[in-house]
Amino acid sequence: MSPINEKPLSGGSNDYRAVKKFLDGLITEVQQFAENQRILIKKLTEIGTALSAEKNLDRLLEMIVDEACKFTNADAGALYILSDDESELNFAIVSNNSLGLRMGGAGGEIKWPAIKLKDAAGRVNIANVSAYVAVTGEPVNIADVYHAGEFNFEGTKKFDSRTGYRSRSMLVVPLRNHENEIIGVLQLLNALDPATGEIISFPPEYEDMVLSLASQAAIALSNNRLIFDLENLLESFVRTIATAIDEKSPYTGGHVRRVAQLTMTMARKINNVRYGKFAGTQLSDDQLRELRIAAWLHDVGKITTPEYVIDKATKLEAVHDRIHDVKTRMELIKKDYLAKIIKNAHDVKIASKIEELDKDYEFLVEANSGSEFLDDDKIARIKEIAKRQWNNNGQSNPLLSDEEVYHLCIRSGTLTQEERSIVNNHVLVTQKILSHLPFPKKMRHVADYAAAHHEKLDGTGYPLGLKGDQLSLQSRIIAIADIFEALTAKDRPYKKGKSVTEALEIMDRMARNKHIDAELYELFIQEKIYEEYARNNSVPHHD
Ligand SMILES: [Fe+2]
Ligand SMILES: [Fe+2]
Repeated sequence: MSPINEKPLSGGSNDYRAVKKFLDGLITEVQQFAENQRILIKKLTEIGTALSAEKNLDRLLEMIVDEACKFTNADAGALYILSDDESELNFAIVSNNSLGLRMGGAGGEIKWPAIKLKDAAGRVNIANVSAYVAVTGEPVNIADVYHAGEFNFEGTKKFDSRTGYRSRSMLVVPLRNHENEIIGVLQLLNALDPATGEIISFPPEYEDMVLSLASQAAIALSNNRLIFDLENLLESFVRTIATAIDEKSPYTGGHVRRVAQLTMTMARKINNVRYGKFAGTQLSDDQLRELRIAAWLHDVGKITTPEYVIDKATKLEAVHDRIHDVKTRMELIKKDYLAKIIKNAHDVKIASKIEELDKDYEFLVEANSGSEFLDDDKIARIKEIAKRQWNNNGQSNPLLSDEEVYHLCIRSGTLTQEERSIVNNHVLVTQKILSHLPFPKKMRHVADYAAAHHEKLDGTGYPLGLKGDQLSLQSRIIAIADIFEALTAKDRPYKKGKSVTEALEIMDRMARNKHIDAELYELFIQEKIYEEYARNNSVPHHD
């Protein structure tokens, strides 16, 4: 019997002893009650801390139900989340210990139909206990659902008859976040007596505690969703910017996306591989996200690179390809020759001069394409051809201006030294733009990873000439992805896409010359990372 109900005795020292005993009992009971409350509050605090530390949404949802069941000694629990349009409750987790049932969370989506908060006529669905709690925000504590007239438990009874379970006591509370908005409902079923295991009612004093637990769960869920939404927004924004820059050129569109994909394939392989240099290397989820953002932004500096340089298809290309101007001038020279032929019929010399002119033009077209290396002889020939004169409205001019000769004499590729510097400058701009963005701490390396993709291990790369240990694993990965994409791309106007075999031959040399990371390249080959990429992007294996 509780000392509170003990009747105090009367009379002398007996009275005193009885009162003391009564008071001692009372004090013990209050102390016990206070101790229980302290334990419960401590548990609640621990649960709150654990919930706020969980970053994975599925695990968080499971944890909310598990902890609430443990806290109240309930046999089963369900968590519902309010839909974005706030019209229905969706099942997030269903858990029943004695049936060994677990649905939702990491176990996958629950296919059970959502609970409508209103019917077709717009009336609040107060027949369903969870809908009622979601709409009113009032907790509901029921001793036996089979004898609770105010709510419809047909669904629960059907579940029981199918499984042989007996649903009895139920505590249903709303999940209110820090803005006092209801974002879901927690339903706990069949509280068990810790001593006997019998199903008992949920003690009324638990209601406030469970409400508090639900509120901590709601705040953790809201934070989780907020972080997810912000990260999602950031990634979408990054992709949009990167795609827009790619689209500046009709040819390189897709470069950044393909580099980012290849970068992530390599990173995942590093995480999975169980041999060699990378067996012990593990990139966390945050590091993977940071790398993905860096890969998407590696060429963001091209935002300031003039289009004519990005896509410069020929040496004489400016706004248009000036080889056409050269052709017009040569046509005029030819016209003059033809006029001479008419005057001096059968002049063989002039006929051969025309032939020579055509050959010179063909040579210039070839040189203009930048597809072959120009040796000293070829350079000399360009300079010689440049001296030809053409008649511009009675005024004699050299066939090629000094500037045109300068461009045509580019020994390899289509870019002059100055244009090459403009293109190379994109990584400095990348560094400049990204280092000014307030990335969260866990993404603080984005600028460094992104801006080092043209550095080489031997220190001969740009913009900073970093070498060896100064280059992070992440920037080495992006560098390999960038090179393989660029070599095999079929859409560049200034060069033909290389086959896998040709690209790997070039990269093999680059690895031996310490331009790219040899061990990373080894993984690229061993794990046939190029194979998957070639399949997805229709890159032929051989020419
Ligand atoms: Fe680049
Ligand atoms: Fe790139």
